[in-house]
Amino acid sequence: MADGVKQVTSRDSFTSGLGVIAATLGSAVGLGNIWKFPSLTGMNGGAAFIIVYILAAFMAGVPVMIAELMLGRRSRSDALSTFRVLHPKGGQWGLIGAAGVLSAFLILAFYTEVAGWVVAYVFKSASGGVLSTDPKVTSAVFEKLIADPYQAVFWQCFVLVCVGAIIVAGVSKGIEKTTKRLMPVLLVILVMIGVRSLMLPGAAAGLNFLFRPDFSKVTGGVLLTAMGLAFFKLSVGMGTMITYGSYFTKEENLPVTALRVMLADLAVSILAGIAIFPAVFTYGFKPEAGPSLLFITIPAVFSQIPFGNAFVVLFFVLGAIAATGAMLSIMEVPVAYLHQRFSMPRLHATALTVILLALIGSTAALSSSVLAGVKPFGMTFFDLYDFLTSNLLMPIGGFFICLFAGWVWGPQKVKAALSNDGELRNSAVINLFLFLLKYVAPVSIGIILLRGLKIL
Ligand code: PFF
Repeated sequence: MADGVKQVTSRDSFTSGLGVIAATLGSAVGLGNIWKFPSLTGMNGGAAFIIVYILAAFMAGVPVMIAELMLGRRSRSDALSTFRVLHPKGGQWGLIGAAGVLSAFLILAFYTEVAGWVVAYVFKSASGGVLSTDPKVTSAVFEKLIADPYQAVFWQCFVLVCVGAIIVAGVSKGIEKTTKRLMPVLLVILVMIGVRSLMLPGAAAGLNFLFRPDFSKVTGGVLLTAMGLAFFKLSVGMGTMITYGSYFTKEENLPVTALRVMLADLAVSILAGIAIFPAVFTYGFKPEAGPSLLFITIPAVFSQIPFGNAFVVLFFVLGAIAATGAMLSIMEVPVAYLHQRFSMPRLHATALTVILLALIGSTAALSSSVLAGVKPFGMTFFDLYDFLTSNLLMPIGGFFICLFAGWVWGPQKVKAALSNDGELRNSAVINLFLFLLKYVAPVSIGIILLRGLKIL
């Protein structure tokens, strides 16, 4: 074993196939399904964008996911040590893991902020504080929340501590148990809101906005957006799936798991769009993207529906549940690293991570108040972290993970790992995967990155 890599002798892991799916799907399903996917789809060509997204997911997202799960399961190590364990002489590959840990911090910095707003809105909507049919009023409520530095930081820290508490409980007793309980609740709430929304008179206009294909909108920039979204949605390119893969059992069929997660996540995104846009169009709102859709439009729209109050509360509970599984998986990346590399007890590793995150995250939390004028590269810290991770770090991470798995670790080891050492008869699937991993994924990621960044 490489210098400095300490293998924890008895490693906690997921205990069942159901637990594996719940945790992995819990990571993929998140705020991205509610806050990014539907509005990006509507703005960038409807069904045309969904097709481009599916292509990006099949050509890049899913192969990287399978590769990550495979590397993690073989090394039984955290995202950084995995590369040293699997390739002791190739120190530079560890940089992929290091970039992953950095991405984990940057994503959580802005993600926990949005999650903090969502949790604040669960309480506010339950007490009736955000309900108004007038978007000016709902907008003022939201502005007040984000412009108040104390509230913004408070809710972010609240979320960090809650997620930290689940992480401390461990992989099986914390992450697996929580996601197994939450995922079914999430689906039930989503279907309830979707059915209600579809019964509204504007359903056709909403579905039209979401699905009508317009290929003229699919530009180079949109391709990068779709690919960035595929990485963000599937939680790949930054070591999350390496870390989770290290907790998978030997029997798990990795390509099947990855495909199931991708399809289920897509279904949740489309359902979220069906829950949101019919209502938005019924009451003549603009289908805006980003936080304003979630925190200004949704409360105003649902307040118009009979028993709408209950649906607003449900909607934010849904958001909080979705965010939890995703945040657990991101926080596990640095915690697993500190725990394994420095033999730190989970409690200490989590506490250190939470403190660091509170510090970095506060720059995002304060980007609507005290730091609003600070704009590195012309963006607030919040937007910068989002752009850097989705559009740069995750695709670049994915690119190098493909090169490492396909070319350095090599096809023989990949075949052994994905057939569960000969247990599964899936050589056709593995050959297709190898082709995607070695050629299609890195080439398409490379071209789209260079085009999206206007280098090509
Ligand atoms: N997949 C999550 C979402 O769509 O909200 C976000 C995410 C989770 C990104 C885990 C990255 C990650 F490692």
